[in-house]
Amino acid sequence: MRLLLMGPPGAGKGTQAVTMADRFGVPAISTGDIFRAHVAQQSELGRTAQRFMDAGEYVPDEVTNAMLGQRLSEPDCADGFLLDGYPRTLQQVAELDAILERGGAVLGAVVLLDADPDELVRRLLLRARDQGRADDTEAVIRRRLEVYAAETAPLAAEYAERGLLATVDGLGSVDEVAERILAALTTLSAGVGG
Ligand code: AP5
Repeated sequence: MRLLLMGPPGAGKGTQAVTMADRFGVPAISTGDIFRAHVAQQSELGRTAQRFMDAGEYVPDEVTNAMLGQRLSEPDCADGFLLDGYPRTLQQVAELDAILERGGAVLGAVVLLDADPDELVRRLLLRARDQGRADDTEAVIRRRLEVYAAETAPLAAEYAERGLLATVDGLGSVDEVAERILAALTTLSAGVGG
């Protein structure tokens, strides 16, 4: 199982990634989490990433691609993985294609979680109150949504063309969304997804 979870900030990628990875017995890999771990360690990569993250911008492709390539080369990814928040740009799509090709592997499915922007902002402001994540201020959330719309939303068309895309409504309880994802993956594997 090699699965991607896409969607705007707050759509529930991280939440659902944990459930799905557990279900399929593969590691959930969040580029955002890896960057935050580097920020916490104050590594050189962390210092670079933080400048972009705090502004709601994407970390440059060459930095992100190198980090992701290293993570996917680890043994726990040999039989599959679930990527949460990667790829986000066309260059990252090309990099992932190259990594998979070198390993003789193919992508199984891409799940796009969709939700109303007002609900996304509401969820992230709630998280700001509970967890104080640095990029969960209203201004930065708005910028993250803009960057997603400009850079990442167009990737859905690419994966739809490849017959790999399942679009799932991210509104509702966490369990309801998880059930929808599983149903969408079943439909997709039966060859009638989109
Ligand atoms: P990242 O950490 O991936 O942030 P994001 O994409 O903005 O997504 P979020 O984590 O905010 O939301 P999510 O969709 O994962 O939802 P979650 O489950 O957390 O990336 C952070 C930054 O790192 C980027 O801005 C960029 O700078 C950099 N970066 C990362 N990847 C990169 C890449 N590939 N290239 C370049 N730069 C990159 O849920 C959100 C909240 O909603 C939580 O509080 C949760 O409890 C709640 N929630 C979840 N589901 C539900 C539900 N069904 N109902 C109600 N509440 C819910």
